Amino acid sequence: MGKDVIIACDFSSKDETLAFLDKFQGRKPYVKIGMELFYAAGPDIVREIKARGHKIFLDLKLHDIPNTVKKAMSVLSNLDVDMTNLHAAGTVRMMEGALEGLTRPDGTRPLLIAVTQLTSTDQESMEQDLLIKEPIAEVVMHYAQNAKRAGLDGVVCSPLEAEKVHNACGKSFITVTPGVRFADGDKGDQKRVMTPAEAKRIGSDYIVVGRPVTQAADPVAAYERCVREFVD
Ligand code: C5P
Repeated sequence: MGKDVIIACDFSSKDETLAFLDKFQGRKPYVKIGMELFYAAGPDIVREIKARGHKIFLDLKLHDIPNTVKKAMSVLSNLDVDMTNLHAAGTVRMMEGALEGLTRPDGTRPLLIAVTQLTSTDQESMEQDLLIKEPIAEVVMHYAQNAKRAGLDGVVCSPLEAEKVHNACGKSFITVTPGVRFADGDKGDQKRVMTPAEAKRIGSDYIVVGRPVTQAADPVAAYERCVREFVD
């Protein structure tokens, strides 16, 4: 699996996003489009960024009954994204339906990865709000194994979990890891962070980097630093 740096384009408008991407001129970084931008700018923003030659991870975290997710995934595969995701909590059946919907008539499909437990969920909220009593690390691993059983390609997880996921689900099961910061950078609201070099060492397949690139004085230089540390 080719390692890559994915830039989280957490902007609220098409103009802001395209102005940001214009800075990269010849380079075509892998781009993550999340709910904020997708709901603000609609599917056209995906088509436009794709037409400019970028790969796209569409991060919409689907979670609904299997039939609805299957149909929604079919629409997303027509948008020609390269990677998309859902919540593993939707059950193995929902994940199987999603894969079915995502697969195009010619048999190709975008990568499909699962969110296990959100990093904003902690042991206490899982127990109190969701009535799940097991240790969170076990829940994450169980959800990752469910995703693998359903035929998915990997999971989004904290860089600190990537090694364990590979041990439990195999090296070819993709780990996509946000929470990346430069050693000399600001952590912002991310609590458990790793540098791109550390993420490489523990075997992440893709890192998702937002503010350290989007808010940098020189975003292209910050992106290139990520690539140097993580990929080269
Ligand atoms: O700006 P920053 O590098 O923290 O952005 C990280 C990106 O990864 C954001 O788009 C955030 O929503 C996403 N993400 C995350 N933690 C997760 C899942 C997704 O930070 N567990």
